[in-house]
Amino acid sequence: MSVRQLFATPVYDGELGHAALLDELADACRDLAMDDRAGRAWSKEHGYRGYTSYASLNDLPRRDPRFGDLVKLLDKHVAAFAVECGFQLHGKLKLDSLWVNILKPGGAHSGHIHPHSAVSGTLYVEVPAGSGAIRFEDPRLAMMMAAPQRLPDAPEPLQPFVHVAPRPGMVLLWESWLRHEVMPSTAKGERLSISFNYRQ
Ligand SMILES: [Fe+2]
Repeated sequence: MSVRQLFATPVYDGELGHAALLDELADACRDLAMDDRAGRAWSKEHGYRGYTSYASLNDLPRRDPRFGDLVKLLDKHVAAFAVECGFQLHGKLKLDSLWVNILKPGGAHSGHIHPHSAVSGTLYVEVPAGSGAIRFEDPRLAMMMAAPQRLPDAPEPLQPFVHVAPRPGMVLLWESWLRHEVMPSTAKGERLSISFNYRQ
């Protein structure tokens, strides 16, 4: 007897591997938060606890070479993930958008997907103790009306929710349709991350 596991949900866990660039990116994120008045206003207006450039700036890799250097590295991670996903592509996946997130203590980000993209991901820059994990959810949740709960120690692929604890330098990638949220942070410091979307 064997049980086949069908319909995979790939999540890529890699390392940026460039400590110096990671330090530079922390500065770049904070520089941006200082300079980007529109982004600060948007964050305040939308109840974002901290700062995000998501709605205000769409040219970070051209604006600042530190982000440009990051994209060169991310391209390789995304290309490797695309192979693991078995994507049939005509050319490489291309960066569509990239933004900075500075979450203050207590900050969170409710469940969402990233429309119009193929692969989404986050580089974690600074992750003080107590920073919120990212929580992925089974996309079939809405179909599980009468499904039994899973045992707490059931294997990870059977769990309807999976928390991934970030660490500095971690490059996390997933397919853009996969719903996720950032759990509330109990950290005393700011949780810095850079998120991005790649498309065909
Ligand atoms: Fe997201």
